Amino acid sequence: MSTSIAFIKNLFTTGAITESSEETAKEVCKYLPKEEGKVIVEFGMGHGNITREILNCISSTSKVYAFEVNDDFCAYVNKSIDDKRLIIINDGAENLNNHVMEEVHAVVGSIPYSFFSKEKQFQIIQGAYDGLAKNAYYSQILYSKLNFKKFQSIFNHCILTTTRNIPKGYIYHCKKEFHQT
Ligand SMILES: C[S@@+](CC[C@H](N)C(=O)[O-])C[C@H]1O[C@@H](n2cnc3c(N)ncnc32)[C@H](O)[C@@H]1O
Repeated sequence: MSTSIAFIKNLFTTGAITESSEETAKEVCKYLPKEEGKVIVEFGMGHGNITREILNCISSTSKVYAFEVNDDFCAYVNKSIDDKRLIIINDGAENLNNHVMEEVHAVVGSIPYSFFSKEKQFQIIQGAYDGLAKNAYYSQILYSKLNFKKFQSIFNHCILTTTRNIPKGYIYHCKKEFHQT
């Protein structure tokens, strides 16, 4: 099934009618660490377009835990991406700490926050913050600026960038910043 048809059929969990563009994938992966042995988490793998960009950016000894609630999407990526650095987790981002015990060096997300309850939104953002290493980033794609304040209430350094796509996409880059005293 084409990605757009699969996304439309599952609109209430995808929150999108098509996958993110290449430009968006590159922008959301901007702060990924390139060093050896890093742990990356993806929220909302879909058909794996951003997953592929993450795998292109990171080193050969790093790994990606990709969370996805849709069973069919997990099966699709399992068949189409053959990379031993990829660990597919068929579960929600809100359950991050049930699956990832290591310190996380970057989170990349494209999950539809506007479809979640306030409690779930804060649970996911706080969970990502708690799991991240010092000075690591959570970068998230969204179609509006509406959730930016929620990220700012948890992360101490957040910036907003946009892409030229239609509809316009926003990327929130949020850093778990620690200042040495
Ligand atoms: C807008 S699509 C993005 C897919 C792809 N990464 C992209 O950028 O084109 C959002 C994805 O998040 C998944 N999703 C929704 N809620 C989720 C949750 N709580 N945890 C993990 N994935 C979730 C949906 O099933 C869907 O595949």
